[in-house]
Amino acid sequence: MSFIASNLKPYIGSEIAADPGGLLNRAAAGELRELLISRGVLVFKGLHFTDEQQVALAGMMGSLREEGERGIYKITLDKAANERADYLKGSFLWHMDGTHDDVPVFGCLLSGRVLSKTGGQTEFANSYIAYDKLPRQTKERIANLRVVHSVGVSMRRAGVAETEQNVRHWNSIPDRTHDLVWTHRSGRKSLVIGCHASHVEGMGLEQGRELLDELLEWTTQPDFVYRHEWSPGDMLIWDNTGVLHRAEPYPMDSGRVMHRTTLMGEEAFSHSTVERS
Ligand code: OGA
Ligand code: MN
Repeated sequence: MSFIASNLKPYIGSEIAADPGGLLNRAAAGELRELLISRGVLVFKGLHFTDEQQVALAGMMGSLREEGERGIYKITLDKAANERADYLKGSFLWHMDGTHDDVPVFGCLLSGRVLSKTGGQTEFANSYIAYDKLPRQTKERIANLRVVHSVGVSMRRAGVAETEQNVRHWNSIPDRTHDLVWTHRSGRKSLVIGCHASHVEGMGLEQGRELLDELLEWTTQPDFVYRHEWSPGDMLIWDNTGVLHRAEPYPMDSGRVMHRTTLMGEEAFSHSTVERS
């Protein structure tokens, strides 16, 4: 084996120790993929991958999603570099990427290029484990529930300015309804929740939100969470289908820049439907 893996927390996260060059082959990428699915997050401290190496590893672990330039999308709140920087404030709340798609992205590789002096650490919560550990009665109660996900709801919760242009953009992305409990092809189950979860179909608004809040609190309890404190050269990979994530707030002018490479989704949410178009 070309790397050494060790658990960061019992329920989430593996640290991978390796030389950058040793990771760039099909055998290593295949093993990393398996580990990613079982551990939720892979952490490579001080790896100092180049953009090209990051994109090459992604291509061997799955299919690259066309995003940014040559597979590198720059995460920054700097409006000069990213005209939709406002939208990224949504990442300060617990979320999954792509709940407005029927097939959400499989995962992301994220490298810290410029770090913020304050805030900007990244947290992950294992929603497979969170489901597994629920009391039996709760599992029965939520088994057939469906949740409506809305970009507008997540943006308002994140406090993004409701300018005419922003609201027009949010409204252009249709709401989507997914099963609360996602039964994957593998047979494993995870919870589909986060700041984008607006309400539970067929349940009173307040009652549904209370349930969603309780499930989010349960899922993000310390035992199920890995918090990454960034150092230069670190790279993370997360399985977006089985973990929630969020960035700790950081100042708009912090200069923080992360390079993200996204893996295409491979499996649709259970019973995903568009609400309106
Ligand atoms: C993302 C995201 C968190 C961060 O890239 O989807 O939520 O710490 N990033 O930048
Ligand atoms: Mn995200």
